[in-house]
Amino acid sequence: MNRFSSFGLLTVIGLAVSAALAQELTQEQARNAAETRQSIFKLLAWNMDPMAGMLRNERPFDADVVGRNAERIAQLGQMIPDAFERDTRGFGLETQARDAIWGNIGDFGQKAEALVAAASQLRSAAETGDRAPVARAIGAMGQACGACHDAYRTD
Ligand code: HEC
Repeated sequence: MNRFSSFGLLTVIGLAVSAALAQELTQEQARNAAETRQSIFKLLAWNMDPMAGMLRNERPFDADVVGRNAERIAQLGQMIPDAFERDTRGFGLETQARDAIWGNIGDFGQKAEALVAAASQLRSAAETGDRAPVARAIGAMGQACGACHDAYRTD
């Protein structure tokens, strides 16, 4: 074997080893993955809270805040599928994520897309400044959160 082909062989072995390592998570990587996705949901709730307060008449209706937060939710929603790329089943983590997510990752992704679509519609509704359509669109967005929780989150 000449020097070049043995170099090539080593490269192939190196790639195979790193591919195997990429799939097998350490406990720490699994915990980090869970913490990252939980941070996304905390930020989603943080952006949702003022809207819930407006619907309950606990704070004044403010279409600008709704539009800004709806845009943030659309951005955060796009991160959900990426945040679940790491399959953390079987690590005994502190998590409300159901194992079913990784067996239905396509459907899970569609539920994330539904949230992004609802958030975009809410942003458009907020541009009108009218309370009634904005309230309806907030409700629809909340349902997109709930639909995914019903299927893929434990209580
Ligand atoms: C595509 C599915 C999906 C969508 C859409 C979704 N969630 Fe979740 N949510 C989950 C899953 C799964 C968990 C559990 C994550 C974990 O514990 O690892 C979760 C956890 C949470 C948590 C708990 C976070 C923590 O650990 O403290 C909150 C709060 C939350 N979601 C709020 C929301 C809100 C608000 C929306 C809509 C704006 C939303 N979620 C949309 C799937 C979803």
